[in-house]
Amino acid sequence: MQNKVLSLRSRLLFVIIIPLLIIVSIGTVALYFDSQKKSQEIYDNLLHTISQVIMRDAVLRDGDLLTEQLLETLTDSLNDQIFYQVKDETNTLFVGYSNPPLLPKESEIKPYQPIFYDSIYRDQDVRVIFSREFISSKEIPGWVNIYVWQTRLGQRQLLLELASDAFVTMMIMLLSTGLCVWFGVQFGLKPLLELQAAIRKRSADDIREIKRTVPREVSSLLSSMNNLFSQLRKAFTEKDDFIANAAHQLRNPIAGIQSQAEAAERSKDLKSMRSRVKDVAEAAKKTSRLTQQLLSMEHVSQRSIKSEFKKIDLVKLTQEVLTKFALRADKQSVSLSLDSKKEQLFVQGSETFLSEAIDNIIDNALLYGSTNGGSIIVSLKEKNDVAELIISDDGKGIKPELIPKVFDRFFHDSELNSYGSGLGLPIAKTVIELHDGNLILTSNEKGTSLNIQIPIFKSGS
Ligand SMILES: Nc1ncnc2c1ncn2[C@@H]1O[C@H](COP(=O)(O)OP(=O)(O)OP(=O)(O)O)[C@@H](O)[C@H]1O
Ligand SMILES: [Mg+2]
Repeated sequence: MQNKVLSLRSRLLFVIIIPLLIIVSIGTVALYFDSQKKSQEIYDNLLHTISQVIMRDAVLRDGDLLTEQLLETLTDSLNDQIFYQVKDETNTLFVGYSNPPLLPKESEIKPYQPIFYDSIYRDQDVRVIFSREFISSKEIPGWVNIYVWQTRLGQRQLLLELASDAFVTMMIMLLSTGLCVWFGVQFGLKPLLELQAAIRKRSADDIREIKRTVPREVSSLLSSMNNLFSQLRKAFTEKDDFIANAAHQLRNPIAGIQSQAEAAERSKDLKSMRSRVKDVAEAAKKTSRLTQQLLSMEHVSQRSIKSEFKKIDLVKLTQEVLTKFALRADKQSVSLSLDSKKEQLFVQGSETFLSEAIDNIIDNALLYGSTNGGSIIVSLKEKNDVAELIISDDGKGIKPELIPKVFDRFFHDSELNSYGSGLGLPIAKTVIELHDGNLILTSNEKGTSLNIQIPIFKSGS
């Protein structure tokens, strides 16, 4: 399943709106219960006052003239019917309705302490107040029990109105906050969208720096991008230079081949023709070497060689390369030997490219170092978890002013007549560095020495 990534805008909206929605919902519910509690208190107080009025009215007027009008007014304004019952101490009905809602069983009757409870009267929910008070009047001095109960329709309606008002207010708040967030996010993301448009306008051959003022949070992204652009520009320039240089290097030997071949065609005798053909062969050899080196250089600079890394024995690999050069060394009367106390020395790397690097260095030693006679010593040892392969010749060495240049691509000492393309050492250096190693060159008039250092293979690395 594809991993779907939410857009920045949706993320921002989600992290703001969802918590807000939760807060608003909790707030509405809390407000509802709070209103319920408060309205209950108000209604209970009212009921208490009504009970007091009724009691005094009933007792003082001897149960006859109750302020019916007052009750009617209250009923109208509260939207709830009010019922009452007043009984004297002998439990004879003094005034009001019979069968008031029964007191809950567990209620403890104490004088002057009204008891409020919920009940059902004539199939309707009612709120009841019961109280017991002492009345001193001429007619009935003594203790009086009074029940007053009230339907709850008006109260519920009021509560519903309050709650729906609160809900509507909350919803309006939520909506307006949502709109503010939406526009805020649009506004906040504008610089990013503009940056995106600016990048979209670019093409592969337009990787100039993007110059625009962006908010602080985006500026590091932009500077990383510009940094990448500048690295790309550098890499492209290097590639262009490399191609131009390669074409230039190839042009001369190919032109040579052409002219020698034409001359060979024109030669009058077999001897001069042979000599021209020999020149053609030499130039072809040089071209072939150059193309081979160009291919290798291209390969190693792509860094993909790391994918073919495996555990390899450097002793065996060096021996194989030396065997390849044995005949040539013999022809030049150069002694070429491997000095290694270790029988095996493992490193993590590419067999092909490490061989090529060593090959290039020994080729140089035979070509420019120990040219005729002399010796090339190849020593291999392990030092502090690093394999050290030193290739030393006893030639004339490299001119001190040229030493800093020998690792440059296409650098070749023009005074030395050879097939050199100037890529041997740069290839070797890149290969060794891809193996997390170092290639160190030391050279003086007594000879040149190249020191290859590669970390030893460790299981699990
Ligand atoms: N052992 C050495 N002794 C003296 N000079 C050396 C030695 N190794 C390298 N050089 C100098 O360094 C230059 C660069 O060497 P490099 O191997 O990179 O290129 P090249 O040999 O000219 O060409 P290529 O190896 O690509 O065919 C050589 O032209 C040579 O002048
Ligand atoms: Mg070389």
